[in-house]
Amino acid sequence: MDWQNQKVVVLGGSSGIGLATVKRLAAAGASVVAVGRERARLDDALRDVGGQVTGEALDCTDRAALERFFGGLGRVDHLVITLSGGEGAGPFAELDLAALRRGFEAKFWPQLEAAQSALPTLRRDGSLTFLTAISARIANPGTAGLGAINGALESMIGTLARELAPLRVNAVSPGVVDTPWWDRFPASVKTELFRQQRETLPVRRVGQADDVAHALQFLLENAFMTGAVIECDGGLRLL
Ligand SMILES: NC(=O)c1ccc[n+]([C@@H]2O[C@H](COP(=O)([O-])OP(=O)(O)OC[C@H]3O[C@@H](n4cnc5c(N)ncnc54)[C@H](OP(=O)(O)O)[C@@H]3O)[C@@H](O)[C@H]2O)c1
Repeated sequence: MDWQNQKVVVLGGSSGIGLATVKRLAAAGASVVAVGRERARLDDALRDVGGQVTGEALDCTDRAALERFFGGLGRVDHLVITLSGGEGAGPFAELDLAALRRGFEAKFWPQLEAAQSALPTLRRDGSLTFLTAISARIANPGTAGLGAINGALESMIGTLARELAPLRVNAVSPGVVDTPWWDRFPASVKTELFRQQRETLPVRRVGQADDVAHALQFLLENAFMTGAVIECDGGLRLL
């Protein structure tokens, strides 16, 4: 792919996996628009990213703002949606269902609002890529709620790939990745989980944001990929 002529929008591009994707694609020569809610966070994140990158502060739970944003962009070749939620984890018997609803509001619905809002602007044979999570495919105790959010997204990928063709629609399903997403938990939780991952994962290390960004880049580049969910989890699904 000649990245020089490609415009990519990364929703959630000011941190973690989204930011790593912005850096990768900008380094490859694409023109990239990174979106996050906080202007200061975007400016900090993008300060040292070279290439053709701009940042746009926007809350992707706001449909009108999404439509204004995409309406003003001109043609977009690829959309990557890495928006995160976070609530909804915990053993089912005690799971706070109000928190799980907030988890859906923060991840499931904004990903769909964003995808729908972008359709008139996305190149007909461009690509639309979601970010789910391996919780949708494994049976780890404590992750039923997160699995439901991500499984709901994953269950749509194949249908969207057929309905929206020739637009290609895919997803990457990450395992445990070292990003600021984990800062919402006590440091001891993160330390213990990462230790377990290093000991038990077939790859013997925790995922890095760029591992997942690499998988996302592959889905954008490979014009024969559609309707796929790539597991990028260091083998977590095999345990
Ligand atoms: N890290 C992991 O271990 C892991 C594992 C499996 C799946 N995932 C999934 O991977 C995705 C990215 O995770 P991450 O670890 O990279 O998270 P992260 O570091 O917390 O980054 C999330 C990004 O999304 C932006 N964002 C969140 N809500 C937004 C909204 N309503 N409108 C606009 N921007 C919004 C954030 O910026 P602002 O806060 O400034 O808006 C930030 O740029 C998430 O969907 C997560 O569920 C992560």
